[in-house]
Amino acid sequence: MKNRLAIFASGNGSNAENIIRYFLESDTVEVVLVLSNSPKAKVLERARSLNISVATFSKEDFYMSEAILKRLLKEKIDWIILAGFLLKFPEPILQHYKNKVINIHPALLPKFGGKGMYGMHIHKAVVENKESETGITIHYVNENYDEGKIIFQAKTEVLGTDTPEIIAEKIHILEQHHFPKVIENLIINNKNIPSFGGGQGEE
Ligand code: GRF
Repeated sequence: MKNRLAIFASGNGSNAENIIRYFLESDTVEVVLVLSNSPKAKVLERARSLNISVATFSKEDFYMSEAILKRLLKEKIDWIILAGFLLKFPEPILQHYKNKVINIHPALLPKFGGKGMYGMHIHKAVVENKESETGITIHYVNENYDEGKIIFQAKTEVLGTDTPEIIAEKIHILEQHHFPKVIENLIINNKNIPSFGGGQGEE
């Protein structure tokens, strides 16, 4: 029986699509469901075009009912991947899926994490702070924003001339390269050793 993944995403969904494609031929992992709090999110189109089931929900459903947890259980989901998902994850689902909810954050946590730190806000802050490097963090999700145990990090250099848009592109490349492989390793090997690297390392 393959490991069954659900992906939560709020917007564009380039990471979700990349993960879906990566596991299309896999013998061990399959993406079975993409869920979004935003009915207009592009991620839903991307998933549908790859024949993946989609589900949308309101904030109310998410926090006040057990509908989403029930759906995950009904679909026999083993792992939950957050890929650009902007809502805080509810306690009851986290309790049920202990150490099975994984997020990607486009910065080197604990730097540039927490409420309000998402998307271009992060890359602008990186430029304003004159950071010499930034990167991605893949981590377990707990009840606080961006504070769960780190599974993997990869770095990229920030040049003095880099704009937030250029940084976003560098981050995008790191995410596309690493995220599916880190998920695969985590599932197959249950490997959760933190790593710091410019692209190699703990995959
Ligand atoms: C990514 O940068 C991810 O790290 C962050 O949100 C962005 C989502 O991009 N959590 P996309 O929707 O996957 O294109």
